[in-house]
Amino acid sequence: EVTKDRNGVDQVVLRNWRGASARVSLHGGQVLSWRTDQGEELLFTSSKAIFKPPNPVRGGIPICFPQFGNCGSLEQHGFARKKIWAIDQNPPPFLQHNDSNDKVYTDLLLKPSEEDLKIWPHSFEFRLRVCLTVEGNLTMISRIRNINCKPFSFSIAFHTYFSISDISEVRVEGLETLDYLDNLFQRERFTEQGDALTFESEVDRVYLSSSDVIAVFDHEQKRTFTIRKEGLPDVVVWNPWEKKSKSMVDFGDEEYKQMLCVDGAAIEKQVTLKPGFCLRVLCYRSDKLREREKES
Ligand code: BG6
Repeated sequence: EVTKDRNGVDQVVLRNWRGASARVSLHGGQVLSWRTDQGEELLFTSSKAIFKPPNPVRGGIPICFPQFGNCGSLEQHGFARKKIWAIDQNPPPFLQHNDSNDKVYTDLLLKPSEEDLKIWPHSFEFRLRVCLTVEGNLTMISRIRNINCKPFSFSIAFHTYFSISDISEVRVEGLETLDYLDNLFQRERFTEQGDALTFESEVDRVYLSSSDVIAVFDHEQKRTFTIRKEGLPDVVVWNPWEKKSKSMVDFGDEEYKQMLCVDGAAIEKQVTLKPGFCLRVLCYRSDKLREREKES
């Protein structure tokens, strides 16, 4: 189902037969909503988000490409999240993956405009398949192809804003003992200690070469988000906390309590693609209410 938002931008609504849903905007190829079959929203979007292109939207799953952060010649997080993507009428078969076949999906495509090529002179095709499985899990499979005659390098992140009940009650597992770059200390390298990650102040880190499964436990909600990734070695963890929240025009002062960004990324080592080559990456997110697990 394709609808228009109030700025006239197309959005694709995916719904599985149990009633779970996801909404994907062509603005940024950005997932803006992911709901369970009970109607609970799993992604955070700020009440102050600006939906007018080319502003990036504060929430959901913005795609940072071809640059993550501000280390590089491009604007913060690259241009992909500001562009209007197209619906891909001809998706290639290798976007398929061995997840359950009973899924609904949409295929989007981003190609650089003339204007993009002036600031980043590399022709590419960025294909994105957003799937909602029969269990209500959200998968994003991407294929980035170099259609240039020279190699190019990029970084990428799926900046997932999870909706949580209270940042002080949340725990992230799967990053213990890893090295990370801390954006709050000029990207200095530190090593995480043995415990699960908890939050009591601003966090802005890139964990390096993590395992492919990360879990976010929300105690109050008794919910667990599981992130599985392929082809994305790093993990970004971000919460702006109080002071930074107040400095962002498109973010409420108290909203940092209800969100946590955890996402699969390739940042420390840029991905280099030779002409004609592709990178295929996958990010798979499931949610579970532990109470529900106990019942079954
Ligand atoms: C994070 C960056 O991942 O994204 C932060 O590391 C940044 O430094 C945040 O503040 C949000 O970025 P933006 O451009 O969407 O405000």
